[in-house]
Amino acid sequence: MCRIFAGIIKEGDIAPILRIGLKRLEYGGYDSAGIATIYEGKIHVKKDKGKIDEIHQKLNLDELKGNIGIAHTRWATHGAPSKINAHPHLDCNGNIAIVHNGIIENFLELKQELEQLNHKFVSKTDTEVIAHLIEEYYKVFKNFKEAFIEAIKRLQGSYAISVISTYEPDKIFLAKNGAPLLLGKGKDFNFASSDAIAFIDKTKECIPLEDNEIAIISLEGYEIYKLGSGTKVNRKPIFLNWNLEQASKEGYDHYMLKEIMEQETSMRWSLNAQKIYLELISDYMDKADKVFLVGAGTSYHSCVVGSYYYSKLATVTTIPVIASEFIENYGSSIDINTTILFVSQSGETADVLNAVDFARKRACTILAICNVIGSTLTRVARAYVLQQSGPEIGVAATKTYTSQLIIHLLLALNLAKKRGKISQYEMDEIKEALNEIPFLAGKILREKSKEIKEVAKRIINKNHVFFLARGLNYGTALEGRLKLLEIAYIPSTAYPAGESKHGPISLIEEGVPIIFIAPKDETRKQIIGNMMEMKTRGAEIITLAEEDDEEIKSLSNIFIGMPKMNSIITPILYILPLQLLAYYSSVLKGLDPDKPRNLAKSVTVL
Ligand code: AGP
Repeated sequence: MCRIFAGIIKEGDIAPILRIGLKRLEYGGYDSAGIATIYEGKIHVKKDKGKIDEIHQKLNLDELKGNIGIAHTRWATHGAPSKINAHPHLDCNGNIAIVHNGIIENFLELKQELEQLNHKFVSKTDTEVIAHLIEEYYKVFKNFKEAFIEAIKRLQGSYAISVISTYEPDKIFLAKNGAPLLLGKGKDFNFASSDAIAFIDKTKECIPLEDNEIAIISLEGYEIYKLGSGTKVNRKPIFLNWNLEQASKEGYDHYMLKEIMEQETSMRWSLNAQKIYLELISDYMDKADKVFLVGAGTSYHSCVVGSYYYSKLATVTTIPVIASEFIENYGSSIDINTTILFVSQSGETADVLNAVDFARKRACTILAICNVIGSTLTRVARAYVLQQSGPEIGVAATKTYTSQLIIHLLLALNLAKKRGKISQYEMDEIKEALNEIPFLAGKILREKSKEIKEVAKRIINKNHVFFLARGLNYGTALEGRLKLLEIAYIPSTAYPAGESKHGPISLIEEGVPIIFIAPKDETRKQIIGNMMEMKTRGAEIITLAEEDDEEIKSLSNIFIGMPKMNSIITPILYILPLQLLAYYSSVLKGLDPDKPRNLAKSVTVL
């Protein structure tokens, strides 16, 4: 969730270049930042909490001397935003400096091992462990490249790492796995960055690193090696014909599309949510006789899906409530025995914070799922878990929604275990399904985009679009509808399919498009009945269903086949085509999906 930038130049000081590059990377994380350079054989560091401009104002980052350096802007995951937790981090003697984007899952065991070897840690971050690990291996190998490789081999999790050292003062050591890292090649300089925007004004020659690779850059050029075998890799630069604006979207036309397409990665990060906090939250929920799930907009929709997870898996009764209605609806019935799980990606939504404030005054237990560490919600909650989506710039919530669903599912699994409501076999099945999520997301996003663009052409001029589903995917219908109406301004309605005959069916006439979310689960038979009801009234039947479901295909005017999957994860994956549908509908109508009218990314007013 952070961003890193590193470079070596032939002439002059690197710090101003690193600061300007860091500023462009700031959308990727902005709670703290720092730069380290090597000058006259020593490492010099300037870092602090806050945004880059504030830190520069305070510390004058450009003052740092030296032609080689590393830089970092942080989106905190381990350790709150603070000067001490800001990157770069150093080893015990200040001979090694590191910046890192990603999550080291085994950092606690590594830290304990190193503390037993008398390493002294100053921060709460997972990253600092890597600096001490390299230091320890350097004592053994007396060769920095070997020490670096051995240390990287010990890491589990995702990382994009950049390291400088007084032992090799003219080289930058890099490692990549599960987080982006690109080299920028030049005549009198070489760079490495989380994305090309940091150096694209200096060079358009870019060499992307792949997972499980390390690289070394110097003024002489770059070398890439496979981490496992040590085999040298010959990779030619690619030419990026992007300008600065395009680069910040990594080549996508809009942040919304970039964020939809990066869900394979963001889902992996959310699946690695910190177990200690999932445990803490599910402990509180386990003690409650009922739990309110409170959010606004998309976050509320995640609560609707979550309520099915908690009930189906853990037999825990939860009540999803729209934040702005919570006080009116339940204000008189909550007290010290009430537990409320608030969900807000920004942690700053006024409707949510207003409900939190009201509930705190009644001594309720306040829990939270949030995306922004240090936000108001994380500061007032008794316990919170970070959904770890990474920053979301587009006004429409996309990757933060699927992250929230994953967190709800992980919490529901924890609760089911605690209450003995799930067998080992069921647990293994669901764990297998969880492991499949990122791969399936990538497959759907790669393979369905073209098809969805065609569907968008069919609906952009319709007066009204319906989204119908049953069970777990009722929340998917709600979210698909919100995306389409808020980004493409197409009036839409979402209902539990069983509710259609209690009123909404009166709106159905020839050609009205109805999008059915109809995976192969226990609701399938009934939803087929609903499809036939609508078909006989002339509706245009658009279905999202399992790719080999011939019966539903035969009923559909448009059939979008989805890969086979455990039905428990269908809400997390069936929303992806609907996110794309909203995006392409908006673009086809000549709108800007990143800046929908009347909307803000975080609604901080009541
Ligand atoms: C999502 O597409 C909307 N822009 C909006 O409904 C959003 O989900 C809502 O404002 C809640 O935001 P939060 O998660 O930051 O609290």
